[in-house]
Amino acid sequence: MLSNCCAVILAAGAGKRLKSKKPKALAEVLFKPMVQWVVDAVRSCEIEDICIVTGHGAEYIEDYFGDTVKYARQTEQLGTGHAVMAASDFIKKHSGSDVLIMYGDAPFISKDTIEGMYNAHKEAGCTCTLLSAVLDNPFGYGRIFKNNGKFEKIVEERDCTAEQKLIKEANVGMYWADADRLLFGLSKITPNNAQHEYYLTDLPMVLAQNGDNVDSYPIGDNDETASANDRVQLHQLNKSAAKREIMRVLNNGVSVMDESGIIISPDANIGRDTLILPGTVIKGKVTIGEDCVIGPNAYIEDSVVGNGVKVNSSQIYCAKVGDGTRIGPFAYIRPDSVIGENVKIGDFVEIKNSTIGARTSVSHLTYIGDSDVGEHVNFGCGTVTCNYDGLKKHRTVIGNDAFIGCNTNLVAPVTVGDGAYTAAGTTVTDDVPEGSLAIGRSRQTNKAGWAEGKIKK
Ligand code: UD1
Ligand code: MG
Repeated sequence: MLSNCCAVILAAGAGKRLKSKKPKALAEVLFKPMVQWVVDAVRSCEIEDICIVTGHGAEYIEDYFGDTVKYARQTEQLGTGHAVMAASDFIKKHSGSDVLIMYGDAPFISKDTIEGMYNAHKEAGCTCTLLSAVLDNPFGYGRIFKNNGKFEKIVEERDCTAEQKLIKEANVGMYWADADRLLFGLSKITPNNAQHEYYLTDLPMVLAQNGDNVDSYPIGDNDETASANDRVQLHQLNKSAAKREIMRVLNNGVSVMDESGIIISPDANIGRDTLILPGTVIKGKVTIGEDCVIGPNAYIEDSVVGNGVKVNSSQIYCAKVGDGTRIGPFAYIRPDSVIGENVKIGDFVEIKNSTIGARTSVSHLTYIGDSDVGEHVNFGCGTVTCNYDGLKKHRTVIGNDAFIGCNTNLVAPVTVGDGAYTAAGTTVTDDVPEGSLAIGRSRQTNKAGWAEGKIKK
């Protein structure tokens, strides 16, 4: 039923206090823009029609989301009420249904809260329901005024008297409203306040004064109310989110001995009995299997890692790693790489845009770029695929069971057949047929006695 509803997310504010070039809503919590957290929560309720109100730095947000959402432009930032007015055309199309309004700087509001509040809104027959929380320190939040338990109005911190500031029931900043009554209410809001802004917080008051049924909905978990208006608050959001994500994976059967420096993306799925060691950063959409050891000091971004994998002091970007594979220390796996099962990628190895077959071993000091490597291949130390001729990238193909000697240069495009060998120090410029040995190096001559008399005694 929520799929008939739509959402308006306010993200036009500059966020001056963050001192960023970008709009505040793009400030990141665990590497994910705050407004993306909000969009994800909305989508998790199957609300697909989403309009983001942009203004300050609009192009950054529009670039970020592309055409996955709709936009309304608020050219001048005259307040949160004014921002919703900018989305009037979008709201009109939803006449007869309900609109969810959220702020782009409060990333933790959950699916349960959105759905629970919608159900309360419908059951009570309200035209507007607002999310409230009783906070020990409600500084900065609008305060909720009630008369005999009935909602009256919200007064912003700046407009509160010292006595009013003692009220602990705060406006979290999320509303469900009937689309038609929302448009009516917005038309009645005036900028008659300390900031001379059109406050969205006046909407419930205006509707209540017109005899509409308006109510507040108490939030279940105060942790969801957090928002960031400056860098200190943003830091706090990151700290609390990092802690929560560690708790989430612990509850799923993942081990963390010490949480220092561990950052786990809210979009990471990690299998049970996997151990995450200090200094590990897991960013974006990442899947990690069971029984892995990740870290210390691993960085994994937008990748899929199988079961029983070890990633020690290494970085993996947009890649796939098969079961039982060991990576590191000090390896660098770059985008579009697919590493098979039971592979060994050792120290100072870089893999880019390449597939590496099962049981292959690339143990030390090697660069493999734009290559297709078969199964059970052994790379000697110091192998380099010379994939770039200054203009174009070329591929190297290596068959199953091949043996690449130490210090081999493979000048692409080139193919090494199944079971072929290259001698140490070879520069391979021609294809090596299956089962043969390529030697491409100058012969050694020994000059007998040459050093005589040169050795200092
Ligand atoms: C707002 C609420 C306050 C609530 C608090 C919760 C109002 C007037 N006040 O205050 O009651 O307790 O959130 O965090 O709504 N925005 C626009 N256009 C504008 C102004 C703001 O799009 O002209 C956007 C911002 O980008 C932001 C959101 O609206 O995402 C909220 O604005 P912000 O300035 O952070 O409001 P608060 O002062 O936090
Ligand atoms: Mg705010």
